[in-house]
Amino acid sequence: MIAMNNRITHPQPMHPHGVTGRLFGRLMEWGNRASYDRCLELLQPQPTDTILEIGFGTGRLLCDLAESTPLGMVAGIDPSALMLEIASKRLNGKGGMHDLQLGKADRLPWQSSMFDHVAALHCFQFWADPVATLMEANRVLKREGQLVLILRDHENNRDRSWLPNPWSRHPQETAAAVTLLQRAGFTSIIRHPNVGSSHVITARKPG
Ligand SMILES: C[S@@+](CC[C@H](N)C(=O)[O-])C[C@H]1O[C@@H](n2cnc3c(N)ncnc32)[C@H](O)[C@@H]1O
Repeated sequence: MIAMNNRITHPQPMHPHGVTGRLFGRLMEWGNRASYDRCLELLQPQPTDTILEIGFGTGRLLCDLAESTPLGMVAGIDPSALMLEIASKRLNGKGGMHDLQLGKADRLPWQSSMFDHVAALHCFQFWADPVATLMEANRVLKREGQLVLILRDHENNRDRSWLPNPWSRHPQETAAAVTLLQRAGFTSIIRHPNVGSSHVITARKPG
């Protein structure tokens, strides 16, 4: 968070907002295309699947997921009102049911064991309490449901001090994420080859 003229403002990647946020959203979507494609490959969505995306941004991945799940549901949570507005408009009329919510991922407003898959791309670094957030993801997954976690690479960044997730400020962020996934109750944790400079991890809720 940055304080300007007595107003608290968040960096754009953490909370896209205003005119700059619209532009940032377009750039982010363009830059993250390969991650959306990798996520789809890993999820292999089926027509009746229920899928949650944490930190959905402009909703590009949600649209692809919705088109693959005409008899299922896509849901999402993001604290940015601008991202909610953009993603909701894009998703309108696509696929099966939708449920997009404004909020943070450490308290998911869905009942337990609802989703076949949960995806979280490039937002791990914004979770102030990553274990609580991963436990929430675990709670809403069905048994043997899969989480796809894609992490922006911060390991060589000079300034990580502003990131809310203490483990994203750590030089071994990805290894820490694996440990946190175990702590949150996940099994079958796999580190996949990077997509660009992003780290890719999948994990499952035990059966
Ligand atoms: C860098 S963007 C990535 C967006 C999209 N997942 C992508 O890869 O293109 C991070 C997104 O996470 C959202 N976000 C930030 N903190 C969050 C939190 N605590 N819970 C859920 N989403 C969060 C932001 O509003 C933003 O839309």
